Amino acid sequence: MATKLAAKPVKADYPRILVPPPGPKAKKVIALDKEWSSPSYIKEYGLAMAGGRGAMVEDVDGNRYIDWMAGIAVSATGYNHPAVVTAVQEQAGKFLHICGTDFYYEPMARLCQTLARLAPGGAKEKWRVFLSNSGTEAVEGAVKLARYSTGRQNLIAFDGAFHGRTYAALTLTQSKVKYKEGFGPFLPDVFHLPYDYPYAGIDGIAAANRLFEREVSPKEVAAVFIEPFQGEGGYVMPRKEFLQAWRKICDDNGILLVFDEIQTGVGRTGKMWAADYFGVTPDILLTAKGLGSGMPIGAILAKERVMTWKQGTHGSTFGGNPLGCAAALATLELVEKGLADNAAKMGERLITGLRKLQQKHACIGDVRGVGLMIGVEFVKDRKTKEPASELTHALELKAFSKGLLLLSCGKSVIRVAPPLVLNAYDVDTGLAILDECLSELA
Ligand SMILES: Cc1ncc(COP(=O)(O)O)c(C=O)c1O
Repeated sequence: MATKLAAKPVKADYPRILVPPPGPKAKKVIALDKEWSSPSYIKEYGLAMAGGRGAMVEDVDGNRYIDWMAGIAVSATGYNHPAVVTAVQEQAGKFLHICGTDFYYEPMARLCQTLARLAPGGAKEKWRVFLSNSGTEAVEGAVKLARYSTGRQNLIAFDGAFHGRTYAALTLTQSKVKYKEGFGPFLPDVFHLPYDYPYAGIDGIAAANRLFEREVSPKEVAAVFIEPFQGEGGYVMPRKEFLQAWRKICDDNGILLVFDEIQTGVGRTGKMWAADYFGVTPDILLTAKGLGSGMPIGAILAKERVMTWKQGTHGSTFGGNPLGCAAALATLELVEKGLADNAAKMGERLITGLRKLQQKHACIGDVRGVGLMIGVEFVKDRKTKEPASELTHALELKAFSKGLLLLSCGKSVIRVAPPLVLNAYDVDTGLAILDECLSELA
């Protein structure tokens, strides 16, 4: 299989805005969608995609954008990476389905083997893998696995967490009340603690003691679900000590440490997993998003001694479908053979550039992150750190009109999570557009 990076653009033929977006063709797509699709969809702004290449997205009116958000941190290998497209096409020509829960096919077995080999901490012990269709479904399965394997039922998660939208995952989620309003009751026996948030002055380590002294015995907790770098909640990067402290609490009390790496994994931090970056190994690791470069696939990786559920206790008709497996195998090879390193290199360039912009624009309160997972927090005042939510949304719209795709999270954070194929041109041109937007919005 070809392992080189996505073909670099022949010349910098992007960004280019031919017609102010959304243009006439995009408006038609938007109108059709608005008439028939569920009103629950967010639709951040009027991007109607027609195609893409590397870190460039083209809309239906021929406008071209530099993509700094990768369809919410998904398009790891960029758009139309030849190795991924070929792998999917070849598999599509053989068969689309046979059901991995009940029968065998090599791409599924190979993907489980590959993920187990890549498990964090250098896979010092044997790991096993369950394949799902999505991130939420991996979380849902991990809740079942943790309860099954420990015989305990209490779970701990964190303020600001996003783990998905089905009932167990939604119970763990605590980032925005709109995700929960009207949907209760939720799972019982789930406790939320403050997440370590250095910029906001929140110490996530101290809170555990109070919980264990007053509310629940640690001996009755099945698992702690942690995003090792919080995503939807605001691209919040905790101190390494926070994750180390939870590793110790889990070890001391027989609790399973679950890292939700659905957003942080597959090379985004410059390492295969954020766990590797922080040097803290969980007992269960969840991945999805970037794993299939856009093909729907997720996975539960667990130490063999934890993945004890018996035959037939958990399964899925489509989980680990052959096309998803083919895309994931191609993606992981690319990430291992260069894209994670590229993420580290381009991430440094981006952070340096963003910190320069921070010196110029007072509305940038904080720039934090590693690799191509960077949070830029906008504030009304650097002293009070009051979130500048309207400015953040205005920035998204202005950047869109100038050919840069951004996406917000938390209260007033732009999550910079571009495809891992990002190059120096994409970084520098994007920074120049951002600078221009902020000057105009000031
Ligand atoms: C950390 C994290 N966990 C879980 C999910 C849910 O994944 P999915 O949307 O694939 O179900 C997301 C999605 O944004 C996520 O960021």
